[in-house]
Amino acid sequence: MRGVLLFILLVLAPIASHAAAIHDAAKTGDVAAIAAALDAGADVDESDGQATPLYLAVRGGHFAAAKLLIERGADVNAAPTPGLGPALMPALAKRRIDLINLLLERGANPNSQRNRENALHIAARSGCLDCVKALVEAGADVNAKTKDGKTPLHLAKFKGQREVADYLIAHGVILPTPAPIAKKLVAADVEKGRASFSRLCAYCHNAVPDEGANQGPTLWNVVGRDKASVAKRRYSDALLAWQGVWTYEDLNKFLLEPMLTTPGVYMEVPGAPDETERTNIIAYLRTLSDKPIPLP
Ligand code: HEC
Repeated sequence: MRGVLLFILLVLAPIASHAAAIHDAAKTGDVAAIAAALDAGADVDESDGQATPLYLAVRGGHFAAAKLLIERGADVNAAPTPGLGPALMPALAKRRIDLINLLLERGANPNSQRNRENALHIAARSGCLDCVKALVEAGADVNAKTKDGKTPLHLAKFKGQREVADYLIAHGVILPTPAPIAKKLVAADVEKGRASFSRLCAYCHNAVPDEGANQGPTLWNVVGRDKASVAKRRYSDALLAWQGVWTYEDLNKFLLEPMLTTPGVYMEVPGAPDETERTNIIAYLRTLSDKPIPLP
């Protein structure tokens, strides 16, 4: 028992105090204290249970402290807690372009993740154009998806960040276009389409003339209807900007993957990426009318 206590006092306590000292110093940006802690043997990447000294220095906005830690060998990509991610994340949250550039220049991964999203998703959503530029120039994937299928462009448009959206479009965003389905509609299975609709769409959309209080507009008469035209409904700018009536091919494109084909859309669902299923759904949508418009 006494041996254990002695062990704690002599061996563990100094380690714990080093850890505490370097974390306190990082939080306050005390460069001399960080250097002293490191000289006394503190581990530059030691976690305080959640974050590394570099993460804490960046979160505090302390440039000189962050630089010193990196020069003393801190791992810029260390992320002991997935929910916090690496030091790049607080730099983005604070929109500190000097810290963002420091980290990227010293090898921070521009595709770093926090939870279910990449650094670029965070920057695009917040509308920080300089942050987005720095990440893209360092090689961030402009088409990366969050775990629930959102791209940086979708998030930028959804939040009305126009400059960021334009920049992303000019820097490699790919908007998918499906193959035409006109010829396949004739052979589509309306009953299977109805079943898919029940499973994928009905919890947000009515299939009757009644609009109801659903999240999405009624899809009665949707084929051939002006886009985004149901009275008193607040549509996204993305859908309002798409001119014309809903043709079979426009529905085919929209439903492929709504957030990819129509970034900024309020319908944040995977849609129906499978061509056969999508064609069946569209054939079913055609029947939601007193006078279904002719097949192409
Ligand atoms: C989570 C709810 C939700 C689900 C599920 C959903 N939608 Fe939507 N849908 C919406 C919302 C909200 C809008 C309005 C979008 C906007 O304004 O950007 C919309 C819009 C539409 C439109 C355009 C309507 C118009 O008036 O122009 C069509 C077509 C559509 N959805 C079809 C579907 C189909 C088919 C499915 C199933 C594969 C589906 N939706 C699943 C919520 C949903």
